[in-house]
Amino acid sequence: MLPEPTLAIETSCDETAAAVVHGRRIVSNVVASQADLHAPYGGVVPEVAARHHVGTVNAVVDEALARARLTLGDVGAVAVTGRPGLIGALLVGVATAKALAYAAGIPLVMVDHLHGHIAAVWLEPVALDPPFLSLVASGGHTRLDLVQDLRRPRLIGETIDDAAGEALDKGARLLGLGYPGGAALERLAQGGDRGAFRFPVGLAGSGRFDFSFAGVKTALLYAVRGLGDEAGERGPDLAASYQEAVVRPLADRLVAAARRHRVPAVALGGGVAANGRLRELVAERAEGAGLTLAVPERALCTDNAAMIGAAAQFTDPAPWPDFLALDAVATAPPGGIAA
Ligand code: KG4
Ligand code: ZN
Repeated sequence: MLPEPTLAIETSCDETAAAVVHGRRIVSNVVASQADLHAPYGGVVPEVAARHHVGTVNAVVDEALARARLTLGDVGAVAVTGRPGLIGALLVGVATAKALAYAAGIPLVMVDHLHGHIAAVWLEPVALDPPFLSLVASGGHTRLDLVQDLRRPRLIGETIDDAAGEALDKGARLLGLGYPGGAALERLAQGGDRGAFRFPVGLAGSGRFDFSFAGVKTALLYAVRGLGDEAGERGPDLAASYQEAVVRPLADRLVAAARRHRVPAVALGGGVAANGRLRELVAERAEGAGLTLAVPERALCTDNAAMIGAAAQFTDPAPWPDFLALDAVATAPPGGIAA
């Protein structure tokens, strides 16, 4: 058992986040988003992200402790995202976490970011326990994990090209919407007919649990070009049809995998879990298959540190002061998760 409570830090991409968790309870959860800073560039600029984390991380940690009415001396362990992510961004969190844990004389837990997304459902009030099938779909990742044991989620499917959120963002850009465009695309799609255009679903009928979104993106590009001046007024139909081609395989394969592996529940995580059409489809499919559906609140689906605190409970801690030798790593380990 990890000494309680855990102070968790997450800086792998463009959110500077810190949280205090006690077992399954979130005591505080603070996120400072840099999204507005990167929006003019149409994507996250790694160097800008890292520099901004440097200026923000101490204040975010202080705020998480203050909201929990704790000082560093009350904390039992520090957890931090160690991989995967933007290396400069990760290094800021890891250096901060090492310094805090060293000063407090407590253990450090290096957490895999994806393990965090998967473990978010374990926190209250959702409090889902294994076994379950997890779908994590964000701007950087799209994967299915079979979770029999939260210490060792098993990767059973992932995207072979773009992430689902990335595909939605690129589609949104083609339709003239801003970055990140997933939410704007969903709003535009609300007035549209999702059957208006037949966009290809990647790896359909393959029987695999992997995903591919490169083909649908190209299909949208050709559709927009083909429509010429008419593309503007067909925006809602294009958005609805495109969104359907991206989220339907997510829902279908999540539920198919749960049935194949005979687990009683499915869980959603990542920023794309905010998508209303995805939620609707998963809810329909899950109900049809007699599965429980667990979706954490939006703040726990997008990047946050509470989920890192959750995964830390299922990751081996590094003792004081050995953790000073650990490093951040940009890539994911082969086969899924470093637990
Ligand atoms: O998890 P997240 O906040 O950040 C990481 O990528 O790690 O996910 C961001 C992604 C973006 O691609 C964004 O467009 C997408 O989640 N997203 C949505 C919605 N809200 C955010 N996609 C579809 N529908 C939404 N309502
Ligand atoms: Zn993430």
